[in-house]
Amino acid sequence: MTETAALMPRQRDKHPVPYWPDYKTSVSRSPSLPLLSMESTPSEETGPRFGHSLLGPLDNNLILNYTQGKAPAVGERIRVHGRVLDETGRPVANTLVEIWQANAGGRYRHVKDTYFAPLDPNFGGCGRTLTDENGYYEFMTIRPGAYPWPNRANDWRPMHIHFSVFGHAFGQRLISQMYFEGDPLIDRCPIAATIRDRGQLERLVAPLDMQSSRPLDYLAYKFDIVLRGRRQTMFENKPEGM
Ligand SMILES: [Fe+2]
Repeated sequence: MTETAALMPRQRDKHPVPYWPDYKTSVSRSPSLPLLSMESTPSEETGPRFGHSLLGPLDNNLILNYTQGKAPAVGERIRVHGRVLDETGRPVANTLVEIWQANAGGRYRHVKDTYFAPLDPNFGGCGRTLTDENGYYEFMTIRPGAYPWPNRANDWRPMHIHFSVFGHAFGQRLISQMYFEGDPLIDRCPIAATIRDRGQLERLVAPLDMQSSRPLDYLAYKFDIVLRGRRQTMFENKPEGM
């Protein structure tokens, strides 16, 4: 039997606006001319398929992967997990999920990050994994610190983890951010504020998941990534999804 699914048109009115004066760098980079559609190239539509043979056993463990297990990162241990789903709720199997984040003090391991918080010699801040046959992924990491950024007088990014979902080709890569339930900085963040629909923003906020936590070890947060449709996750590079 052939499977069919109801057409779910893209809801472009729910997309974050590209021009948002409170988010200062959006002013200079938002389009000032009508958009043009470009034909995609073969290299965007095809690409390498990632397999488990390319991934190391600690790639999805940011607590240990920077030192290859020799010493753990400083910070509050957390598990971040969820599923990658299509617009009909079906799992997206075998897709590469990558994350990057600041350390527990709110500093990235990057030459341009000069924030006062020290680097953690045991923390790199990057991880990757493949979804399993049920679209499931998980990471062990530490809770990233909030950090200030030069924008208005006193803007801070809420605690967040950057996510990339690769899909089947370079041209399909999607990028988003996960926030943490209960963080009061979410409502003060001009980047989060570009998502004007409350429901859309809340889909980027991972709830505390006590059932998946481990007593005396770590808390868990659940973050499902939905590629398209009414429950779609907002992606900053392709608001319309995959
Ligand atoms: Fe960030």
